[in-house]
Amino acid sequence: MQSFQSVKKDPKLIAQRVFGLLENEMKLVEADFKSRAASNIQVINYLSEYLRESGGKRIRPTMLLLANGAAGGNSTNESVIRLATVMEMIHTATLVHDDIIDNAQTRRNAPSVNARFGNQASVLMGDWLYMTAFEVSLGERNLELLDILTNLTKRMTEGELIQLTVLGRSDLTEETYFEILRRKTAYLFSACCEIGAILAGATKERQEALKSFGMNLGTAFQLADDLMDFTSDDEVMGKASGADLIEGKLTLPLLLLVEKDPSIRKLLDGIMLEGAYKGNARQDLLKRLKETGALEATNKRAHEFAAEAKRNIEILPETEYRLALEDIPALMIDRKS
Ligand code: IPE
Ligand code: IPE
Ligand code: MG
Ligand code: MG
Repeated sequence: MQSFQSVKKDPKLIAQRVFGLLENEMKLVEADFKSRAASNIQVINYLSEYLRESGGKRIRPTMLLLANGAAGGNSTNESVIRLATVMEMIHTATLVHDDIIDNAQTRRNAPSVNARFGNQASVLMGDWLYMTAFEVSLGERNLELLDILTNLTKRMTEGELIQLTVLGRSDLTEETYFEILRRKTAYLFSACCEIGAILAGATKERQEALKSFGMNLGTAFQLADDLMDFTSDDEVMGKASGADLIEGKLTLPLLLLVEKDPSIRKLLDGIMLEGAYKGNARQDLLKRLKETGALEATNKRAHEFAAEAKRNIEILPETEYRLALEDIPALMIDRKS
């Protein structure tokens, strides 16, 4: 325990420690994902392999496994592995659909499924993944889990729909921004942690604690993603940077900038209308975001959610799993991809 705490400040060591803790389990999840995403229909098999092999950080199954361990479960248990796979499948389905909606060309440093195989095949592949995820979870014969998963999927879809209705709006409020953010990203993190707790047979109090932890962590994660859109580059992120505004999406850094300098809306409206940064628009915008402290303030908000997440799980016993969960928020905010 002591040695774990002493490495706390070094992100590389933390990551090694967290992933080392779950090495076995993650191998089981990979194998499970591979077998469940297989199909004897050749085209499905092909697309599903394309997606699975494109990688991804596998954060959601990691969260489910850690939450399960922190709640006293046995994370190599078949149900736990199965649900960890389900969460990665749901995540993959949302990415496939999201990339169609956003007309994204790149994902995980490769052509997105829509770019490579077209929108028609991608819609159907996303549907197939959703349904396969539900088929796998039905195997648990557990209505509480199905209730969470159904609610979650509905909320995520609602989030994307709400986002469509405010696309291109430079008068977006923080309230609506966070509403969309929670639906798009945070509920999924929350469901991963809650399901991990349920499968451990946790008390209601611990289940609630992990559920809240996931909400706050997921919020910090998406805030970091929105920040990286301005500060990172395509290669490092594996997807297009600077894309949010072009797609018509105002994220927190821009909302804070508009608050400080309402005259900037003209520039934002222009970029959204054109669907491109003209001349020095991108550099100018980044400069304004830095000067006004909008990036700094967004980072601070992400850290606040991360700190809140840590507080949520104070009631859990101090196991290696809880300590790993406590370290994850910092990793997620300062991540590069
Ligand atoms: C991407 O999620 C979608 C967001 C919620 C920002 P990840 O960054 O976890 O994607 P992968 O699975 O690692 O590619
Ligand atoms: C992320 O949506 C959440 C989902 C995929 C549901 P975004 O559109 O903001 O994320 P990226 O930037 O495409 O990964
Ligand atoms: Mg997108
Ligand atoms: Mg999107």
